[in-house]
Amino acid sequence: NLMTLIFILGTYLFGSLNGAILLCKVKGWPDPRAAGSKNPGATNMLRLHAAQAASAVLIFDLLKGTIPVYLAYFWGYSPIMIGVIAIAACLGHIFPVYFQFKGGKAVATGLGTLLPLGMDLTGLLVLTWLFTIAVSGYASLAAIVVAIVAPFFVEQINPEYTISVCMLSILILLRHIGNIRRIFSGKEKKIVNWKR
Ligand code: G3P
Repeated sequence: NLMTLIFILGTYLFGSLNGAILLCKVKGWPDPRAAGSKNPGATNMLRLHAAQAASAVLIFDLLKGTIPVYLAYFWGYSPIMIGVIAIAACLGHIFPVYFQFKGGKAVATGLGTLLPLGMDLTGLLVLTWLFTIAVSGYASLAAIVVAIVAPFFVEQINPEYTISVCMLSILILLRHIGNIRRIFSGKEKKIVNWKR
């Protein structure tokens, strides 16, 4: 119905507010899409600026996923519709209407959409992310591993959301093709090599 369409569109428009691009604009810093990995996200902000800037972007981009999904959950939407809302938030982050449709990879926003599913799922995914970074040193690989294991974890914890989380994971994995190529060719930057 019309309200649902407006909700999906509103979620996309909200998701289009890219934390990294906006913070750089406010601070008068260069566009994050022109430096480092050229990705406007928390990871590249850590690479280019201080940890505080990266944390602010991380929280902002997480909330773009959490708020609409929490509302959808609260309003009694079905798991598939909640998945559609999660995808709309991520599509906003990836293809932002305000910034020439050139956005990020939706790792923070995607994780944000999973927060309302519970702290057990979120905790497992964050631990997987931290573990992969600790072992490999690659932030992108950590996101890729989390995207791969998330559907299996959800299947155990909240099985009704498995299809929705699969859709989300596919979207995030497709967005990391460049990173996957760089990992295989040895050109991906490790966290220890981040600082200028
Ligand atoms: O969290 C985003 C990460 O997966 C990739 O970011 O900047 O290393 O391409 P980046």
